[in-house]
Amino acid sequence: MLGVDVSDRSIKIVELSDDDNPMLRSVCWSPLSPNLMRRGVIQDPPAVAAEIQAALSKCTPVPVRGKTAVASIPETQSFIRPLQLPEMSSRETDEAVKWAVRQHIPFDLDRVYLDWQAISGEQAQRREVLVGAARRDVVDPMLDVLDAVGLRVIALELEAQAMVRSLLPADVAGVTGVLLVDIGATTTTIVYFDAGAMRFTTSIQRGGDDLTMQLSKELSLRPTVAAEQKALVGADSVGSPTAAAMADLTRDLVQAIATAVQDPIVRLGKASGIRAILLSGGTANLPGIVSIFNEAFPSIPVQVGNPLINLASPGQEKDMPLSLADATHFTTAIGLALRARAY
Ligand SMILES: Nc1ncnc2c1ncn2[C@@H]1O[C@H](COP(=O)(O)OP(=O)(O)OP(=O)(O)O)[C@@H](O)[C@H]1O
Ligand SMILES: [Mg+2]
Repeated sequence: MLGVDVSDRSIKIVELSDDDNPMLRSVCWSPLSPNLMRRGVIQDPPAVAAEIQAALSKCTPVPVRGKTAVASIPETQSFIRPLQLPEMSSRETDEAVKWAVRQHIPFDLDRVYLDWQAISGEQAQRREVLVGAARRDVVDPMLDVLDAVGLRVIALELEAQAMVRSLLPADVAGVTGVLLVDIGATTTTIVYFDAGAMRFTTSIQRGGDDLTMQLSKELSLRPTVAAEQKALVGADSVGSPTAAAMADLTRDLVQAIATAVQDPIVRLGKASGIRAILLSGGTANLPGIVSIFNEAFPSIPVQVGNPLINLASPGQEKDMPLSLADATHFTTAIGLALRARAY
């Protein structure tokens, strides 16, 4: 099974073996030049198709052999939320979900794909379902592009669901109060998971490339040099002007993340609050980022999540075709490919 994650600045594809206990067979990556995708929406379908072909032509350590894929719908273009409903049949739930979603989205229901799934751990008399919706005019062009490169898309999955599937253990029933934060190049995607289910998702249109651009401006460095310095010096050492500037810029981003989650968590009322934070995305590799999260979220354990935890490895992680630092970029793609195991 392939997981295909087309984001604004890169294409990432992974192939998992088709076992009950899947192994990572192959990983493929290709950068995307700006303007081909904007906020998860395809701007130039033929060019994006060509880039997906290019990514598929440089998979390691072996070429992909499958053609069936699960692709992602970005958080920015989707809607996901739990709904509480009285006990009712599936058909009645379909209707109730439509009615409820109509209150929350600003366009006609016939312009969206809508789906729901029961949340496990339901209480008697009440049914809790997780509802997902995505605009057809965002999803259909992606399906066409993937079709054009010969991939058969068997499912589309919201990015947030893919993050949950790769970073949390397979049995999520007992998982409470976990904040997943994927900091990519242009977007930070945030998922709050509590009492066995996703409770809210949000995103910020800022990521690691903004840190690079800000650093480049502040220290008058060329962007390529700023990107190198960012990864090399990071944000945890004192004394160097680069590290000090990076620490300030990173604090600002992390503060924006803290602000974005504050209200939604308060609104959830009886939620467990945040008990742990798992980071992913390329910017999770920024040296010192964990300490900066610790400053913004005092006494909450923060770590870089491991998107390989639900994969079998023949020996150990060293036998995987990618290191943990590289794997964090593929968190979404791995979660997409893992969907096959869930059904
Ligand atoms: N060692 C490192 N230290 C700091 N930043 C890093 C490091 N390695 C990669 N990055 C940053 O990670 C970002 C890319 O991450 P990722 O691959 O998750 O993004 P993406 O999925 O392509 O983007 P998005 O999800 O925003 O569309 C870039 O901004 C890059 O500079
Ligand atoms: Mg991403």
